[in-house]
Amino acid sequence: MSKQLDAVSAPKQLQSNMHWRENIVYEIYVRSFNDSNGDGVGDLRGIIEKLDYIQDLGVTAVWLSPIFASPNRDYGYDVSDYKGIDPEYGSMDDFDELLEALHERGVRLVMEIVPNHTSSDHPWFREALKGKDNPYRDYYIWRPAGEDGGPPNNWTSFLGDSSWKYHEETGEYYLHTYAWHQPDLNWENPKVRQEIIDAMDFWLQKGVDGFRIDTANVLSKDMSFPDTDETERIQGSGEKYYKNGPHIHEYLREMREKVFSRYPIFTMGESSQVETEDVEDYTLPERGELDLILMIEASKICDEPDDMWKSDPWELSHLKAIMRKWLKDLHPDAWIGMYLSNHDHVRMVSYLGDDLEHREESAKMLAVFLMTLRGTPNLLQGEELGMTNAHFFNSIDDIKEQQALAYYKLMVEKRGEDPETILRRVLQKNRDHSRTPMQWNADPGAGFTTGTPWQRINPNKDEINARQQEDDPNSVLNLYREIIRLRRDHPSLSLGTYEPVLEEHKHIYAYLREGEGERWLIVLNFSKTPTEVLLPDDLRGELARAECAVCSDGERAEALERGMTELDPYAYFVFRLA
Ligand code: GLC
Ligand code: CA
Repeated sequence: MSKQLDAVSAPKQLQSNMHWRENIVYEIYVRSFNDSNGDGVGDLRGIIEKLDYIQDLGVTAVWLSPIFASPNRDYGYDVSDYKGIDPEYGSMDDFDELLEALHERGVRLVMEIVPNHTSSDHPWFREALKGKDNPYRDYYIWRPAGEDGGPPNNWTSFLGDSSWKYHEETGEYYLHTYAWHQPDLNWENPKVRQEIIDAMDFWLQKGVDGFRIDTANVLSKDMSFPDTDETERIQGSGEKYYKNGPHIHEYLREMREKVFSRYPIFTMGESSQVETEDVEDYTLPERGELDLILMIEASKICDEPDDMWKSDPWELSHLKAIMRKWLKDLHPDAWIGMYLSNHDHVRMVSYLGDDLEHREESAKMLAVFLMTLRGTPNLLQGEELGMTNAHFFNSIDDIKEQQALAYYKLMVEKRGEDPETILRRVLQKNRDHSRTPMQWNADPGAGFTTGTPWQRINPNKDEINARQQEDDPNSVLNLYREIIRLRRDHPSLSLGTYEPVLEEHKHIYAYLREGEGERWLIVLNFSKTPTEVLLPDDLRGELARAECAVCSDGERAEALERGMTELDPYAYFVFRLA
């Protein structure tokens, strides 16, 4: 049996594993990473084949998207067995081998756990459907019809339909915060809490090193289920009655006491709708809850509040404000995980950079950005190649992910909106942009599969692929390796303070990082045009004694010391100040 890395003999009750803050996490969306048997679906043996690549990248942990048995309507976020591997992904032996091999390479494995809901195919739900007295009925949340004979209240799910689905045979509605086939578990029921704790313990006994806890802050609901006044809101109205709900802290502490604290592990909570106070409550070490909250605000920077499919253009000032809140204003002992992209959003080079004319430069600049921010960075597979959105999607039939399909259906079929407009929104933002297969080489299957891929491969694999970047010293991939190495060698880049510089500048993003006796200045041009910048006098003085650790242009680096300087589009500079 494989054991966790860095096992400490007797972890103290409620102790927080601070060393985990320095991790660099690589998200593997298993389905799209590497297919070992030609069925078009990525799998565990496919990951085993790529261990050298993962190790060379330098990341310290991989987070696997859910690999549990699942009907895969939401690709594993609809679990039908928390202790079983989906046969599409492989066997338990494959899993054990993967874990062992990662550990041999000093790379940790973070599992996903989906505690808020199961699949409607889960045996618990099938039992629950059998009748009101079934012992599993109370594993889920059931209510009679509301006064008008319709759903118990007016909440909408994250797919935009009612949060309640009627079950004819037993005459009641059940709650689903996500799709109707993802019924919410009833966390008020101690048996449910114990089931999830047992499932986590099962994986921890195998030696996994941590969890990403899916939708961690929605487990506790206001069980009186009041109507919401957010009637304009399309997805997730009623959220205020279950985000950071009444018993959430008790539930998380129970998890920690009963299971997390018994292993030297690390927990990352996925949470939207959190403010700094909430994150402090979840992650201050003395509270004994989670190790970090994953910050998703940057990836949602373009979303309109009432309808996440409508986009507003973003501005650098907004990105700076988000980062200031999470990297400077947050209590220094609380902690966040940082991601710019993940499997639920578009590719970062396509929304924060320029994936056409300046693709390579902007992908590199964003690499430097992500890897010099405070917090624990999470990198999505393919980002290290500068993989882009799937601009070749052009019809609704190209889309596989359920939220986009549900939105299209709701707006076009139920609300009669213009199909062109809705299609445009969906093509711009669907979650499949980040789920197209990894581009390993320029073969027809991109080196991902020898069969028919489950999702179409981006035709830009001919220019953007790992093989071509491996040996090119100036590739995005090699820049990632370099900046990851720098972060690993200098804990101050993970743990140090964050102090913005030139906050009013519209295109230049600059900040200082300081800690562990080190001080860094990072200067980034977020614009596709050359931009002038003048650093404050005192910093220019310091630059005289500085060394440029990772810079896009050595001459400009020197010019920055002298005075007003014009920076190339997406230029980046990481200075190690004396
Ligand atoms: C999280 C996951 C997402 C999933 C949803 C429901 O947001 O990241 O992929 O669809 O939860 O489980
Ligand atoms: Ca396969």
